Amino acid sequence: MTIPSVQMNDGRMIPQIGLGTWPLKDDDAPAVIVTAIEAGFRHIDTAFRYGNQKGVGQGIRDSGIDRAALFITTKLDGEHQGGDKAVAGLDDCLRQLGTEYVDLLLIHWPIPARGEFVSTWQTYERLQASGKVRSIGVSNFKPAHLEHLAAQTNVVPATNQIQLSPRITRTDHVAYDAAHGIVTVSWSPLGQGSDLLQDGVLAKIAARHDKTPAQIVLRWNIELGLVPIPKSANKQRIAENLDIFDFGLSAAEVAAISALDTGAEKRVDSDVDGH
Ligand SMILES: NC(=O)c1ccc[n+]([C@@H]2O[C@H](COP(=O)([O-])OP(=O)(O)OC[C@H]3O[C@@H](n4cnc5c(N)ncnc54)[C@H](OP(=O)(O)O)[C@@H]3O)[C@@H](O)[C@H]2O)c1
Repeated sequence: MTIPSVQMNDGRMIPQIGLGTWPLKDDDAPAVIVTAIEAGFRHIDTAFRYGNQKGVGQGIRDSGIDRAALFITTKLDGEHQGGDKAVAGLDDCLRQLGTEYVDLLLIHWPIPARGEFVSTWQTYERLQASGKVRSIGVSNFKPAHLEHLAAQTNVVPATNQIQLSPRITRTDHVAYDAAHGIVTVSWSPLGQGSDLLQDGVLAKIAARHDKTPAQIVLRWNIELGLVPIPKSANKQRIAENLDIFDFGLSAAEVAAISALDTGAEKRVDSDVDGH
């Protein structure tokens, strides 16, 4: 099985599906990471806030995989915004993960009320130049935040990781990202345990392709050029989530899935500290 990659605006490639690791903790992360790497995952999403980077790093070492074969994303949250706080924050992440660099470092939330995401981004630009981070991006940024960033800084984020699923399609936001060369990464792509996967439209399309509703949702992400990061701690579902590259959806099927959009984000994810 070959997992496709998407090119980011800095020329680097990001594998088009990754393993989400929230809410795994240090104790359970190693076994899950080993299972995921053995199944074929090469892209792992973690964050300082998840409190699982030691476990994720342990799992990577336990798997025996060559570090260069992996794409590791981490994120720094509010306490690392402003001044040069991100420098120490990244060093902490690298220590916990037991690696010399991460492939992608994200600002976890803009937290606009603090007014510090621009200076934090400037620190990220320096961190990228230092080699401890290959690519830099953001998470939970709305177009207004990205506009503000573009007006004040020189480097466009490589990715924007946002809540996105068939019920929260955020088409305007995705179009903005695409028009500005930003890869959109979908968090909670499977609806985070909601009844999304019981939806009748998904069931019908799944039966047609002999796939599960989760696979249909993940394939819909691929068809749209998005990068989903489903979390699973279950060996069978981890394998299932990767088994989406041997079929395609028709334009009508993609449209039918996109029509499940409820037109509403479930939470104000730009202003609060979430996951
Ligand atoms: N940037 C941010 O602010 C932010 C916010 C939230 C999440 N994230 C990231 O996005 C990742 C994914 O989001 P998420 O964990 O919230 O939600 P999700 O991936 O949409 O859903 C995870 C849930 O779906 C279940 N599941 C996984 N595969 C399945 C399958 N094939 N069939 C049925 N159920 C399945 C999992 O259970 P099992 O484990 O039992 O399989 C888990 O309960 C997180 O882990 C985290 O890395 C980022």
